[in-house]
Amino acid sequence: MTQTSAIPVSLYFEDDHLVILNQQKLPEIIEYLRLSSIDDFHDAIVTLKVRGAPAIGITAAYGLALCSNQYDTGCLAEFREKFQEDKQYLYSSRPTAVNLGWALTSLEQVIVNVRTVNEAKTTLLHTAIQLHTEDEATCRQIGEFGLELLSDMTTIMTICNAGSIATSKYGTALAPFHLGSERGRTFHVYACETRPILQGSRLTTWELQQSGVEVTLITDSMAAHTIKEKNVEAVIVGADRIAANGDTANKIGTSMLAILCKHYSIPFYVAAPSSTFDLSLSSGSGIPIEVRAPEELTEIYGNRIAPQDTLVYNPAFDVTSKELITGIITEKGIIYPSFQDNIEKVIRKS
Ligand code: MRU
Repeated sequence: MTQTSAIPVSLYFEDDHLVILNQQKLPEIIEYLRLSSIDDFHDAIVTLKVRGAPAIGITAAYGLALCSNQYDTGCLAEFREKFQEDKQYLYSSRPTAVNLGWALTSLEQVIVNVRTVNEAKTTLLHTAIQLHTEDEATCRQIGEFGLELLSDMTTIMTICNAGSIATSKYGTALAPFHLGSERGRTFHVYACETRPILQGSRLTTWELQQSGVEVTLITDSMAAHTIKEKNVEAVIVGADRIAANGDTANKIGTSMLAILCKHYSIPFYVAAPSSTFDLSLSSGSGIPIEVRAPEELTEIYGNRIAPQDTLVYNPAFDVTSKELITGIITEKGIIYPSFQDNIEKVIRKS
């Protein structure tokens, strides 16, 4: 899959490696990196060169498929042992996005009944490509549902980057804007900058500009004022893990926006593929929240902005309570409360 339209694409597979857009360097530098060793894949996910729940899952799937293709053994038991080691290593890269474990488990399942190492290698690569391809169709469908839902709205706020570069293509929360732009619909998007890693200012603004969507940058702390003063009509965000009752983990700052939506009586939508639901968790309290390095807060591009030895708390995600969510846009349809009943019905539907 190569980049053919103005909508940016984060990754594509070539021969024996994966090429990713280095999201660490955006928007100043458009750099593509080749990932081929297991350490390349692990590092790219940990350091957010590739990021966003679906893109993390797809990258890990290619990583496991491509690396297991290099195992120098004809013995299936030995192959499985090395496969498990690499699977665990990739799984340990980031804890919150359930798509990572979902993609790795999908690969594990397809080799349960294989009879030879060669069959395992072919099946794994085929499955990684399939997960990649399906994600594009999934995101496009989320975009279609989202576009319909936002049909009488123009001014929308988002946080982080749940866009094309966080997925195979189109994104989740940003998919309606990309599709809308293709069809001549006008949206005005307010992008929260998303401290501390600035996915909003570095990535969402860049991505929406690429596809011709009007976007205005604000700091996270300007959200309340902006909703009121600029008549924001809805907030739409992505998700990293959604529990069976609808509680949703997404980038830190998301739950603050949901609380603001309630205060200002505007809808708060989550957009996510079915691979982001974790029905094994009854509520959001079981979602592991990644806590990242203090330097992400105490430094900006290597320059210190807080005193030495400042105590830091740096959770990368928060959990928005189900009561604050108006609807969850998935590729299988829009899920409305009561989430406890409706999530299971929609997500289990084939
Ligand atoms: O830390 P990140 O940049 O990986 O966090 C990403 C988000 O929180 C996204 O909103 C989420 O993964 C959905 S991406 C379609």
